[in-house]
Amino acid sequence: MSDVYILGIESSCDETAAAVVRSGEELISNVVYSQIATHQPYGGVVPELASREHLRAIVPVVRKALEDAGHTYQSIDALAVTQGPGLAGALLVGLSYAKALAYALQKPLIAVNHLEGHIHAVLLEGRQNANHPDPRKTGASRGPRSDGELQFPVLALVVSGGHTHLFLAERNDDGWIYHDVGHTRDDAAGEAFDKVAKLLQLGYPGGPIIDFLAKHGNPQAVKFPFAQIKHLDRNPQNRHSPDQHRVDFSYSGIKTAVLRYVETHDMYAAIEQRRRALKELASPSADDVLAASDRVTLDLVASFQRAMVNDLVQKTLAAAREHSATTLLVTGGVAANSELRRVFESEAAQEGLAVHFPSRKLSTDNAAMIAAAAYPRFLAREFAEAELSAEAGLRLR
Ligand code: KG4
Ligand code: ZN
Repeated sequence: MSDVYILGIESSCDETAAAVVRSGEELISNVVYSQIATHQPYGGVVPELASREHLRAIVPVVRKALEDAGHTYQSIDALAVTQGPGLAGALLVGLSYAKALAYALQKPLIAVNHLEGHIHAVLLEGRQNANHPDPRKTGASRGPRSDGELQFPVLALVVSGGHTHLFLAERNDDGWIYHDVGHTRDDAAGEAFDKVAKLLQLGYPGGPIIDFLAKHGNPQAVKFPFAQIKHLDRNPQNRHSPDQHRVDFSYSGIKTAVLRYVETHDMYAAIEQRRRALKELASPSADDVLAASDRVTLDLVASFQRAMVNDLVQKTLAAAREHSATTLLVTGGVAANSELRRVFESEAAQEGLAVHFPSRKLSTDNAAMIAAAAYPRFLAREFAEAELSAEAGLRLR
């Protein structure tokens, strides 16, 4: 099989992204236009503003991705686009553009699930690092992943601002299939980071700043209990054996617990003081936020992060035991968290599990992961129909 160059387009949330990937194994270009500045004043993504920004950015972002890759519209082999899940209006911008482009160029279009994209960010980089000359050997169930090979069963934790999902990922001749073996009942983990940061006036998005501030606080200062949500899956198709359990997550409770802590420890005056101090600065740095944070805040932030990390790691390991997984893939925006990486690495090693993350750049939303996930579908000639539409609640299976 000769090289296949796929142009990926992603617009499911607040990043407009385009990338060119060769044969699912080499990132040729990767352009991400982040809308953080637009949503920052609101402390969260405003869907209408996101759609508008995508409309503005999509054409220049795609052009830049082609230019950086040394490609033209004509020289790529196929297009791939995020179909869902995500914000309906935001998805529609990337999807309509990709459909029109594919039609005009008479090139195949491949629809990709955003969550599958996050999983393929890890696989793409594994192959790239291994610099494996034979794409057919990637993903084979032998050898360590360090040379681009995976040991199955593979359990993937996709943890971001919109999702906290556990999937068992399997490979067959046609590509990949996924079994949902656990997900959040309410808020996503990244959403909890963002909401706690908003409550404490630390800035947006919350994850990176909490990651930074937590290093300066005492993670033992505040205890946050989590419920264990382990139960038999009602859908027998998701069970590999009759007594197999699901492991679900829940992160709305910890947000309320942080709010209670703020109320009972009279933190509102300090929060308001920080808000004012940071408002004076054009674009406050992490050090500026640190300088505006007292000990109580730093301890609270460190304790919150520790609780989140421990819950994510413990529940993922419980699911890994339940499904006898040998490899863990941890991906999505929250996978950029330094404590999450450290704890996963040490705990997984103790259980004899291999654990892999994407680079920080490919942890958060990007289009390289969409182009990479599209490659097996390109080989299987799974092309989108002309009626393809965006699906805000698209499931992965
Ligand atoms: O994957 P992503 O870019 O978008 C979604 O698909 O949601 O993830 C964004 C999320 C945000 O909630 C952000 O706060 C979180 O990832 N995040 C982090 C870190 N970097 C980004 N959370 C914790 N620690 C980080 N270092
Ligand atoms: Zn994402």
